[in-house]
Amino acid sequence: MKKNVMLALLLAGMCTLSACGKDSDSAGISINQGTINEDVPENNIQTDVQNGYIATGGMETPEVPVDVPATPETPVEISPEVPAPETSETPIEVVPEQVAEDTENTDTPETPVDDTSTPSVIDYTPETAKAGTPASTAVLPANAPTPDDYNYGASPVVYDIPGIKYIDNVLIANKSYSLPADFYPELDPTCLNQFYKLQNDASYEGLNIYLSSGFRSYDTQDYIYNDYVSRDGQEVADTYSARPGFSEHQSGLAIDVNQIDDTFIGTPEAIWLEQHCWEYGFILRYPQSKQDITGYKYESWHIRYVGTDMSYKIHNKALEMNDPYLTLEEYFGIDSYYH
Ligand code: DAL
Ligand code: ZN
Repeated sequence: MKKNVMLALLLAGMCTLSACGKDSDSAGISINQGTINEDVPENNIQTDVQNGYIATGGMETPEVPVDVPATPETPVEISPEVPAPETSETPIEVVPEQVAEDTENTDTPETPVDDTSTPSVIDYTPETAKAGTPASTAVLPANAPTPDDYNYGASPVVYDIPGIKYIDNVLIANKSYSLPADFYPELDPTCLNQFYKLQNDASYEGLNIYLSSGFRSYDTQDYIYNDYVSRDGQEVADTYSARPGFSEHQSGLAIDVNQIDDTFIGTPEAIWLEQHCWEYGFILRYPQSKQDITGYKYESWHIRYVGTDMSYKIHNKALEMNDPYLTLEEYFGIDSYYH
């Protein structure tokens, strides 16, 4: 039932493909100055279809902003210290059904769904999460924030679930390493809190960076990906959209910001994001000129949360190698292709 509601909402959002689009400037959910202004979760697709981007494949195809975190009614409180999993007495409780509940809209017609194909949703009780040890247990970067520092972002929870690939306690989701279909952690709360810090600091420089797409379930990705395949063909779709089970968005550790297409490239927000996201525990996951390595075209809007210990390590390594676009694949020496 909840899956039906989510898909119905997704379909409602996708209606901009055909008839009910508005100016893309108002698209998505904007979070600014610590409060969330919830617009109708529209997307940029109609605009791009009209401009021929999708038909020609000449630009990155935007994704549908879906499965965003529940919208708080009160201004978001940016906590300088999010309880780290390894020190928290009460590990973060992830309630997999929360998004479906929070986004339920009885005005939206439901779409029939074959429930027999629905993967069983496992209960993400604290027992499924290991005590997350910091990603960098050996040598922490000397310049990395400590838990007392404002910018510090704890390493994400490590789930003790078969089928999830970790390297140095960093979850890997790419074309080579998939996630179980029933892995439904929602957007990681530390990731979100760090994003709020990033957003807040950017706003002091007059920049508006907002969350457009966060957690996406296997089923949501399945819908999106297949929609792209039916429009562009699989070969093209594979260059910008992950197959279900292979998207970082399903890990709850990825965020797409602002305009989810190439019009975001070169904007002051995009430049600031690329230069500063590592200070908050993020990396730009699909940088330019690295498509052969990541498996995806340049996405100036997609950041991945790894925690500040790891983001500083990667940043330091990038400086050492004189490669500002060092990828997770290069850092860990792994590949990304569909086997
Ligand atoms: N656009 C990225 C690759 C995804 O679909 O997860
Ligand atoms: Zn993304």
